[in-house]
Amino acid sequence: MTKPKSPAPQNITSMLQEERLFPPPAEFAKRAHVKSMGQYKKLYRESIEDSEGFWGRQANAELVWIKPWKEVLRWKAPNAKWFLGGQLNVAANCLDRHLNTPTANKAALIWEGEPAAPGQMGEERVLTYQQLHREVCMFANVLKRNGVGKGDRVIIYLPMVPEAAIAMLACARIGAVHSVVFGGFSAQSVADRIFDCQAKLVITADGGYRRGSIVPLKKSVDEALVLKDATGALLAKTIEKVIVLRRASNDIHITEGRDVWWHRELEYVDANCPAAKMDSEAPLFILYTSGSTGKPKGILHTTGGYLLGAKMTTKYVFDIQETDVYWCTADIGWVTGHSYVVYGPLANGATSLMYEGAPNHPEPDRFWRIIAKYGVTILYTAPTAIRAFMKWGVEWPKKHNLSSLRLLGSVGEPINPEAWMWYHEVIGGGRCPIVDTWWQTETGGIMITPLPGATPTKPGTATLPFFGIVPEVVDDQGNPVPKNSGGKLIIRKPWPSMLRGIWGDPERFKQTYWSEVQGAYFTGDGCRQDKDGYFWIVGRIDDVLNVAGHRIGTAEVESALVSNQKVAEAAVVGRPDELKGQALVAFVTLKTGIKPSHAIRDELRAHVAKEIGPVAKPDDIRFAEALPKTRSGKIMRRVLKQVAAGVEVKGDTTTLEDFSVIAKLVAAED
Ligand code: WT7
Repeated sequence: MTKPKSPAPQNITSMLQEERLFPPPAEFAKRAHVKSMGQYKKLYRESIEDSEGFWGRQANAELVWIKPWKEVLRWKAPNAKWFLGGQLNVAANCLDRHLNTPTANKAALIWEGEPAAPGQMGEERVLTYQQLHREVCMFANVLKRNGVGKGDRVIIYLPMVPEAAIAMLACARIGAVHSVVFGGFSAQSVADRIFDCQAKLVITADGGYRRGSIVPLKKSVDEALVLKDATGALLAKTIEKVIVLRRASNDIHITEGRDVWWHRELEYVDANCPAAKMDSEAPLFILYTSGSTGKPKGILHTTGGYLLGAKMTTKYVFDIQETDVYWCTADIGWVTGHSYVVYGPLANGATSLMYEGAPNHPEPDRFWRIIAKYGVTILYTAPTAIRAFMKWGVEWPKKHNLSSLRLLGSVGEPINPEAWMWYHEVIGGGRCPIVDTWWQTETGGIMITPLPGATPTKPGTATLPFFGIVPEVVDDQGNPVPKNSGGKLIIRKPWPSMLRGIWGDPERFKQTYWSEVQGAYFTGDGCRQDKDGYFWIVGRIDDVLNVAGHRIGTAEVESALVSNQKVAEAAVVGRPDELKGQALVAFVTLKTGIKPSHAIRDELRAHVAKEIGPVAKPDDIRFAEALPKTRSGKIMRRVLKQVAAGVEVKGDTTTLEDFSVIAKLVAAED
């Protein structure tokens, strides 16, 4: 692994001089949870100067504890333990606590299925807190019946249906550790994750709907369960049972003794299921994310700290009020779906909307139709989606009444000011504040963000830190850089929802996050602070790309490519893309005697989809006789990035082993 270097000065100088300032609308300054910059500053100062006092008070105020905690934080870098001695249950905090309140009969989840004819609405389900509680208890009993207990790992591989949330909460209820695998990942990815966390059970569906077709999830699980490693050993040998939800009614194969139907299992259980007493530091979930090596990392989150982070950020950043209909468009397969579709909103007793499918099915106005239909007040989505909406044209949102919206959110990648302004004007009607929220799978919850009643926003910046968070921009030696200069973004202090480790790999945990700057967490992002102290995230500075808001490790795609018989060598880099932020470009050298062709290009793209999933398919595959390397044999990615972007190859090439390689690469471009 190469050490990431501070980002080269980028063209964000003009952004740092952004003059447009959007103060919080009067309505927010009147009734938001935080009503002014003064109030934010006071709370923030308190959260830093007496952080243990602050977090201790918040933990008591926000969470329901079965047994009170004794110690706020035990910190020995890089290991943090929060709320030691305390016991609680996440599902009870999301459900049971609301049952003796008026919230019991409020919608917890509103769900809309994808299939719909043009101009029509889709299938609709509403689950009140009382109903969701019942479903979760019953399914928790199903898990128990099928041998799942405290600490066991469960893979959830489901479409965006209420059962995805039910499955997560049922695991939490009995103390099982869930690992949700995004439905767009392949059988191979499922098998790798099962193997890594030694999961006991898989929860899946026959199929899920996506853009009008059926994704055969159960079929992928069947494939995953017979995949073998290089030595011929089964990857998924720990799996005992597969629970199958009927969603798309596509044909599937049932293996007797191993596979059981969700709806049949419910016939054997009742709705009585006590919430397990969980230690504050008990694992809650593992979520795999890409890093700079070929192997995804199982990011581990635990109980008390994670839930406190998810709950508080949802409350303050989205300013959740009693009457809100809140919609986060993320899939449950990403951390955003964990913290801001399920745990954060439900812990707050909010109404969380879930939509199963694509934004342009059956037509490009599906989101706007849904907002008008349910009176959505808060929308949280990704810049890549916003840019797609811009491309599809204003006529689609203009067809619908979006006046219920009062707050907009953005997450996943830097939002370009043009998209920000479009979002503000066309979707927000000029009246809704935008919260551009920076965070990561690892951070568990939002870290840098405006508070809508307090922070004046500027298009393109996530602005200021949330309570208790101390971000800093530093140089390669770990020293703070002056305002307006580029550097690495680190976090100085531990925070409750921080990751507790990489599953099964403490060494990699230390190396990846804690060895850049002594005692501080390294984010992998480049950043600048402007004169007002606002943080402008420049993007990843390690070998991780952000493609349409999804994190993809270049090494992962490279190892998928070279696992194809025809490939001798591959290097994957990002190139700027108008819609997706970054696009994946693969430079591939084929084995001797094999000629480049369109057929091979298609084959390789399909091969990557099979190895990782369609999200990782290279946008471009360029065949090259050789890759530019240093004399010591290291691929010069910097050069490849320039070739991929179609710009002149500049900078130091004196270490290049063979100069003619670049000329050939450029010439081969068309
Ligand atoms: C990476 C984390 C956090 C949930 C979704 C992605 C980038 C995320 C922003 C933002 C600029 C952002 C960073 C970060 N990122 N939000 N508001 N502005 N960049 O989670 O897959 O863990 O990716 O996404 O590069 O490191 P993730």
